[in-house]
Parts: sequence; structure tokens; C-alpha cells
Amino acid sequence: DKGEFRHYMMKEIYEQPKVINACLEGRISENKVLTSCFGADSDFLKEVENVHIVACGTSYHAGLVAKYWIEDLAGVPCAVEVASEYRYRNVAVPKNTLFLTLSQSGETADTLAALRKAKEQGYLTTLAICNVPSSTLVRESALTLLTNAGAEIGVASTKAFTTQLTALLITSVAIAVEKGLSAEKESALVQAMRSLPAYVNAALLQDEHIQKVSDRFANKQHALFLGRGAMYPIALEGALKLKEISYIHAEAYPAGELKHGPLALVDENMPIITMVPHNDMLDKLKSNMQEVAARGGELYVFADRSTNLHNEDNIIFTEVPKVEEILEPIVHTIPLQLLSYHVAVVKGTDVDQPRNLAKSVTVE
Ligand code: F6R
Repeated sequence: DKGEFRHYMMKEIYEQPKVINACLEGRISENKVLTSCFGADSDFLKEVENVHIVACGTSYHAGLVAKYWIEDLAGVPCAVEVASEYRYRNVAVPKNTLFLTLSQSGETADTLAALRKAKEQGYLTTLAICNVPSSTLVRESALTLLTNAGAEIGVASTKAFTTQLTALLITSVAIAVEKGLSAEKESALVQAMRSLPAYVNAALLQDEHIQKVSDRFANKQHALFLGRGAMYPIALEGALKLKEISYIHAEAYPAGELKHGPLALVDENMPIITMVPHNDMLDKLKSNMQEVAARGGELYVFADRSTNLHNEDNIIFTEVPKVEEILEPIVHTIPLQLLSYHVAVVKGTDVDQPRNLAKSVTVE
């Protein structure tokens, strides 16, 4: 039932405050992550010295964000790979490595094959972050953290992604605590997580503005998404959403790579969508944007107002609420989902059932 919404995708975008809350429920206390959420056997948190994350598509992008969190908070090396590659190569597995899969459906053929292979490789244990409790992935993994997003019908993944990120943040902090993260920092992170549903609500308030912005994309052939740090995987996800449902060719690059090639694509017909974090990368990103503006590229900037970018000429600005840095990848996802949705509606594509795609890729 789509309720008041025209498409499942929009309904699912708007469900995010509620389902992120459901994902946090019972996993955090006032100021701690509750390791009981990993089941009775949470000893792996003490032993883990490496993490391998394997997934496909949007779930893979969630894994890429987690690499930034796990290495930053816990100092534990983390490698992320698409399942279709992982399953067919010889992987070096260091001692005490956690094998972590991410999947909305828990039925993706490549991800299941990767898990089955990993079980022969001497990993510490296998953990699935998954949305479907009765799925094959959950059944075959030693440990599970459910995302609790509820059924996702739209082919383009939205709430499944932001709840995966929420579950990954819980996991990252849980590992970090065992590696010596201070109680004070843990408490600050948990407090921040508690605010997530409200932040996502605030991000949704830009819907009408984003709808207006999206009109400008209707006749575009290409788009370039830029991000830096943990916002780079969000740029990848924004580009995937746009191509998937509006059939506009979109690419994502870490902004620092511009001069190494993609800048050659930039002219007045190229929209550049930039996710601006509020950290020490801000100034670097601003100079990347100037490089683009100098070539006539049309700049769409998603940032909070303290970046002062809303005052700049030549920038089409969309406000994102100012949040703790660790949460920025989650909150910045919302306007990108809305953008791709509205562009698809303007173009008249089948939003919930894009051509050539299936919700769950159960054959290779
Ligand atoms: C994109 C999308 C796909 C899936 C991918 C993995 O919006 O939905 O890229 O993320 O097919 O599916 P799951 O997460 O079910 O393993």
C-alpha cells in the first residue's frame, strides 16, 4: 500500500526516520552500544583485527562508508569488495578477520556465493547485516544484525541503505570500543546516533526545493557527482540512484581526482553535484568547485549553511542540516534520493520498476 504517495520509492524515502529508529532500538543504551545485539556470541568484537566487507550495488556503497568509520574509529584495517569479484579470485585472509556481508534481500546470488566461499577461508566469523530475517544469507551466516527497515518494494534501494549505514555505525563503534575508544567518545557517538531520525526528518523538509531543482535535470544527458572522504561513497550512491531510475548517465569521483581526467568532461552542459562535508576537507572541496566553475560547469551543492556556500553566485544550493561529522554520509543521502526521484518523475520513467532491473538479483 503506497498510502498518500504516488510511488513506493517516495513512501520508503519518507519512512526513513521511523525505520532508522527501529534499527537503533535495543542496540544502544543512554550512552553505550549494546553488544548483545550481535547475539550471544559477541566475543568476535574483542578478537577482530581485520574486516572484509562484501556486497553488491547500493549495499556495496554502504560498505565503502563503513571502511572510513572502522579505520577511523577502531584503527582496524577494512577492505570492501563487490561480491562478483570477491567470489572468483584468491583472497588473502589475515588472521582474525571478520567477514561482513551487506544485503537488503539476503538472496543476492553473488553475495551468497561469496559467503559460502568465505566459510572455507578461515575467517574469525561471518556477520550479515540484512533486512530480511528469513533470508538465505541470515540462515547461512554465523551472526546477524537485522536492519529492521521493513519490506522495501521500490527497486531503487533507499531505506535499506540508510538502515544498513545505521547498523554499520553501531558495528563500527562496537569494534572501536574493544580497541580502546574512550567511554566519553562512545557516549558522544551514541548521543549523535539518537538524533539521527530527527536529522533525517529535517533533511526531508527540502523536498519541495529539491523538486524545483530537479526540473533543471530533465534534459541533461550526463551528471558528475563529487565527494571526499566518507562522502565519496555517497556520491557513488547518488550517481547510481540517478542512472537507475532516471536513465541519466552519471559518474562519481572523489573530488581530488578531477584533474586526473574527469575535468575534461566539464563544460556548460555538465551538472556537477557536490556533497560538501563540514570538516577540514571543506576548503579543498571549495577549490575543486572553483575548478569546475571556471570551465562553465553548473554547480549543485548540498551543504549546511555554516559552510557559507549559500551566499555564492553560480551555485545552486540545497541545505542539508548541520549534523555531527560521523552522521553526514547518512543525512546527505536523503537529498540525493529526493533528487533522483523527482528527476525520474519529471522524465516520466517507471520509478518503482526501472527498465531492465529486478529487485533481487538471484541469478548471476
Ligand atoms: C540499487 C539496488 C541494487 C542492490 C543490489 C544488492 O538501488 O537496489 O544495487 O543494492 O542488487 O541487493 P541486496 O542488497 O538485496 O543484496
